[in-house]
Amino acid sequence: MRQNKVPFLQKGRKEARKKIMDNHEVTMDKIVSLCKRRGFVYQSSEIYGGQAGAWDYGPLGVDFKRNIQNAWWKEMTQLHDDVVGLDGAIFMHHTTWEASGHVGHFSDPMIDCTECKARFRADQLIEDYCEKHGVNPGKPVDTMTHEEMKAFIDEHINCPTCGSTNRKYTDVREFNLMFKTHLGPVANDASLVYLRPETCQSIFVDFKNIVQSNRMKVPFGVAQVGKSFRNEIIFKNFIFRTCEFEQMEMEYFCKPGTEDETFERWRKDRWNFYLKYGIKEEHLKWHHHDKLAHYAKDAYDVTYKFPIGFEEIEGIHSRTDFDLSQHMQYSKKDMNYIDQDDGNKKYIPYVIETSAGLNRNFLMFLCEAYEEQNVGTDGKEDYRTVLHLDPRLAPITVAVLPLMKKDGLAEKAKEVQHILKEDYVTDYDVSGTVGKRYRRQDEVGTPFCVTIDYDTINEKKDDGSPNPDFNTVTLRFRDSMEQVRVPVEHLSERIRQEIKNYKRA
Ligand code: GAP
Repeated sequence: MRQNKVPFLQKGRKEARKKIMDNHEVTMDKIVSLCKRRGFVYQSSEIYGGQAGAWDYGPLGVDFKRNIQNAWWKEMTQLHDDVVGLDGAIFMHHTTWEASGHVGHFSDPMIDCTECKARFRADQLIEDYCEKHGVNPGKPVDTMTHEEMKAFIDEHINCPTCGSTNRKYTDVREFNLMFKTHLGPVANDASLVYLRPETCQSIFVDFKNIVQSNRMKVPFGVAQVGKSFRNEIIFKNFIFRTCEFEQMEMEYFCKPGTEDETFERWRKDRWNFYLKYGIKEEHLKWHHHDKLAHYAKDAYDVTYKFPIGFEEIEGIHSRTDFDLSQHMQYSKKDMNYIDQDDGNKKYIPYVIETSAGLNRNFLMFLCEAYEEQNVGTDGKEDYRTVLHLDPRLAPITVAVLPLMKKDGLAEKAKEVQHILKEDYVTDYDVSGTVGKRYRRQDEVGTPFCVTIDYDTINEKKDDGSPNPDFNTVTLRFRDSMEQVRVPVEHLSERIRQEIKNYKRA
């Protein structure tokens, strides 16, 4: 059984963690720790020592992930009249992957230390070394040949696992990333299937079906979200690189000759999506591909400034007519589009792809939202951990907190929660002081807390005069910590307005 040691499980790290906590900077360790502590993400099969490269999304994580997915889906389909959806099967005919080029080309360069048998991705080994030591490898690593990578590693890099300075490595060779299995009881060539390494191929394979069944006219796009699987040589940085992950992909079919302007338009749209949901522009950067994938005419990655540095969250690719042409050749089915708006001209559309990782988006939004904020007064330090998540993404929208359990406050709080439940994901918390409960909600990014107190339930004041705050609650805002009184009957609408107008300070 494969064992995986993750930072938060390692003993003797408490001291180191405390030191990091004292810096109040966002680090990957802190994000991992918060995720486990508050039920966003757990290590898969933890009780058995853990399964490398696999993670489980807990009660808060599953809602948070779904909210990101829904935001993407809304953006791509509801807000783009010319994009429709698809939910293709994970298993596809194995010829799909021959046609797409994955059987022949979908591989990473690997290299092994012959002394300790540790296996590395050769390109990443070089990139990590160059970054750490400020060395320029002479040319972009993704353009190096196997021989050049091997020569560089032999000359510079001691084994990161056993520390050997002998630098006894194997040659660099390619490792195909697709998982193979067989459908049915007989394992032979006919029953061979692959776990899909990207979701988009079913969009290409279904192109004709979609055009015909929905009378789609070029240009149009097809969006899809689903699981993909890659037998990655190494897993790194929590949920950043795993063997099982979710992609949010959109293939936009356009007339040949219009692909460059379409590419630029989608680049802009996808960039703006991240700004819309609260990513600071200075935390995003384009990475232009020097070496293009076998199908691409041009490609850019949107990269985000994680605590580990700028890393890819989404790829925007100009895929030409490669995929449809390949499927036409392998399936012998005509993939041409008849353009009735252009004199019934026949052509294979060109494709612009936007391909985002849902799990990487999850990690990015957490890193962006995380803050250890000094909220002390009178010069005293008092830090709270707060996630400044956009309310549309936060796993809990409203927490309802009775000041006390007794005197009918809990019952009134349940009543208010019941009203809000229809519109929002709510939480109900009665344990500990209200201050502590606010902190607990801040830590998971709950944008609104509603407190039920004696004014909410008392029609009259102590002196017998009418209580103007009767049937009102305290609405407390996560980011500013400001509080306002709101009548119960206006609460849901007020929260809706606050969500609509939300802007992180
Ligand atoms: N259809 C094109 C395609 O799959 P890609 O750049 O290989 O392109 C797109 O993948 C996105 O999928 C990446 O930007 C990343 O967010 C996500 N992704 C790829 N491999 C991943 C992995 N092993 N773990 C988590 N996410 C991954």
